[in-house]
Amino acid sequence: KTEQTFAMIKPDGVSGNYSSAVRKIILDSGFSIIREVLVQLDEDTVKSFYAEHSERSFFPSLVQYMTSGPALAMVLEKVNAIADWRALIGPTDSGMAKVTHPQSIRAMCGLDKQRNCVHGSDSPQSAAREISFFTTKSLTGFIPKHD
Ligand code: CMP
Repeated sequence: KTEQTFAMIKPDGVSGNYSSAVRKIILDSGFSIIREVLVQLDEDTVKSFYAEHSERSFFPSLVQYMTSGPALAMVLEKVNAIADWRALIGPTDSGMAKVTHPQSIRAMCGLDKQRNCVHGSDSPQSAAREISFFTTKSLTGFIPKHD
């Protein structure tokens, strides 16, 4: 069925100039980009977005990384969007992705298990939460890409 998922080109992807290559893969794969906004995330926003990871040892580093520069937040739509976007991005660890999923987006542009270039919702519940997080919640610090 037609679904929406939440995707993000993370700060390493944007600063590494991968935004247009990733956008091309998205469109060539049959997704529609429903919303797109270039954001500068602040600490509170990242802590709230990644609240499920707050007890992990990598959390402070994750917050530092995700606030290090602009990120491109997107809502994508197509049949089976959630699972298909996850399949396209590949495993969390980009180093592993280069070995096991060499055609994946994280293999192409990710650096390691933290700086993995892109995000994708992992379930319908996460997709609903993350889309509403970025479309209705605090828009502080968001830089509209188009006017
Ligand atoms: P993402 O799929 O967006 O969701 C959580 C993020 O935390 C993940 O991508 C990585 O950026 C980061 N992350 C997950 N696991 C680790 C880890 N073991 N070490 C460092 N960062 C991680």
